[in-house]
Amino acid sequence: MKIGFLTSGGDCQGLNAALRGVAKTLFGAVPYVEIFGIEDGYRGLINSRWRKMEQHEFSGILREGGTILGTSRQPFKTIRDFDAASNEDRLTTMVRNYHNECFDALVILGGNGTHKTAYALSQCGINIVTLPKTIDNDIYCTDYSFGFDSAVAKATDVLDTLHSTAAAHGRVFVCELMGRKAGWVALYAGIAGGADVILLPEIPYTVDSVLEVIHKRNRSGKNFSIIAIAEGAMTRDMAEKPKKERKAGDISPGQELVRALENRLDQQDVRLVIPGHFQRGGDPTPTDRVFCSRLGAMAGELVLKRKFGYMVALQGSSIGAVALSEVAGKLKTIPVENEVLKQARLLGISLGE
Ligand code: F6P
Repeated sequence: MKIGFLTSGGDCQGLNAALRGVAKTLFGAVPYVEIFGIEDGYRGLINSRWRKMEQHEFSGILREGGTILGTSRQPFKTIRDFDAASNEDRLTTMVRNYHNECFDALVILGGNGTHKTAYALSQCGINIVTLPKTIDNDIYCTDYSFGFDSAVAKATDVLDTLHSTAAAHGRVFVCELMGRKAGWVALYAGIAGGADVILLPEIPYTVDSVLEVIHKRNRSGKNFSIIAIAEGAMTRDMAEKPKKERKAGDISPGQELVRALENRLDQQDVRLVIPGHFQRGGDPTPTDRVFCSRLGAMAGELVLKRKFGYMVALQGSSIGAVALSEVAGKLKTIPVENEVLKQARLLGISLGE
């Protein structure tokens, strides 16, 4: 068997642990397996950049961040673009390269964009098994994606650390966390890190409601407040505008909130912290390492059984397989009826409503 491994999209913790899990399962089961590492995501498949990998290359990488294969973003909308050099679109190039190399299957690790392309490739007849990767935790049909737990741990660490300096100065800290369309990281890290306010893309907020929390805390003798805001959060006024009219780019949602609070808080300093890619780097947590290993083992098993066109997924406490057609093109944002939202409110955390 000749299998290509590929990691695509933004990196996250656990990619190497997952690759190792698939490789161990395949090498352990069949003596004649050959694994090829495709470099830098779909870009490597388009440009025929891959190398045969030996078993030992998957050793000692369980806790390493990043990806030993490299990754890149290849937006789905560009894969049907015509490329003058090859005289065809990129999807056709990938399919041709796959067949020229006589691959039996591809194991693809990625997020939402990656899954759209994976599904398009599988519709062209390519044998594919995928693994759900993203700190955003917004992949459909899986309770969690790997990288999420590690990113929450990093973001929580930031919020924990901010408490002492916030209390020392009696300040308001706004911490902008990753998540443009889905606020899972902000929600979980906000709860774990004791945030007083959590602002999410799914729930438009008002500055008044945030100020109310700050004033209430001050009145009760707590001289500081911690606000976790997802990078996709927006005010109710903004959310009511048509998408095209929502301004983007010049300042981030965190900066915008800090500006609004500064204008209305004359007795208290407001500071912004943006941990950014810190959330995606470093070691995976033990939970992610176990999760990646389990996903990897299941993905390896699917390949061995020649069960293709599936993503391995966590559903309840079991790892199963879901058809790519169910996953591709869908986004798992936080549903309004989500239990964790309800419990956050019961805990007295404001969601800016
Ligand atoms: O999709 C993962 C993610 O980390 C998002 O949370 C974030 O908005 C985005 O990627 C950042 O992308 P880039 O690494 O390309 O700056």
